[in-house]
Amino acid sequence: MAITNGTQVDRVQVVAHRGTAGYAPENTMAAFERAIQMNADYLELDIQLSKDNELVVIHDSTVDRTTNGSAAVKDLTLEELRGLDAGSWFLEEFKGQPIPTLGEVLALCRGRIGVLIETKWPYLYPGLEQKLADELAAYQMHLPAERVIVQSFDQDSVKRFRAIMPEVPVGVLVENAALLAEDKLMELANYAAYVNPALELVTAEAVAHIHSLGMKIFPWTVRSRSVVPSILALGVDGVITDYPDYLSQD
Ligand code: G3P
Ligand code: CA
Repeated sequence: MAITNGTQVDRVQVVAHRGTAGYAPENTMAAFERAIQMNADYLELDIQLSKDNELVVIHDSTVDRTTNGSAAVKDLTLEELRGLDAGSWFLEEFKGQPIPTLGEVLALCRGRIGVLIETKWPYLYPGLEQKLADELAAYQMHLPAERVIVQSFDQDSVKRFRAIMPEVPVGVLVENAALLAEDKLMELANYAAYVNPALELVTAEAVAHIHSLGMKIFPWTVRSRSVVPSILALGVDGVITDYPDYLSQD
């Protein structure tokens, strides 16, 4: 997508949140395919582990909100998770969309779109970061040309992944303004390439600090066209959005 933020030469990266959560059931193949069709630069997804230790793509720690089942993700096997309908809750036309495995999504995305992977509830899943690194290597998605970024609200998870696979850039998700103080940002700059805050926390000062420390900033989550001009004017490097077309100036 050809958009600029007005202050930088680089294009602003458009990141399709949970696929294209505004147009298709979040974190399903239908949402990810739509992100590619919509020409987003990256898609964002959330990973957890099944009871039998397989990487699956789902946001909540339970399947209740986004499927026809009711259980914790960690208490269901891959086969049980795959048997759920993760599409009908959004729209009947998506009935039968399964919970994807990470491998399926990587196979779809390789060579076509960047992937922003969030380790979700990592305290529930010891070994999650190693499994992620193994899967990225299996799909050759750790290579720079594939544009993979790993992020989390959990800084320890980010650091664990970074220690295993330092060639893949990592980001820290921020929902507390205190983490955008200069001393905190200096700590993050020791390992993170991205600082990704909630939209309402982003200020020109924070953007300047993040850039001065050599990091980039992808705020989340744009769900309204009206906020786009102001967030771009702050000089951000990317925008995470449920509606990739809201960022399009093509
Ligand atoms: O990528 C940012 C965003 O995904 C973080 O919040 O709750 O949608 O995972 P959440
Ligand atoms: Ca997420």
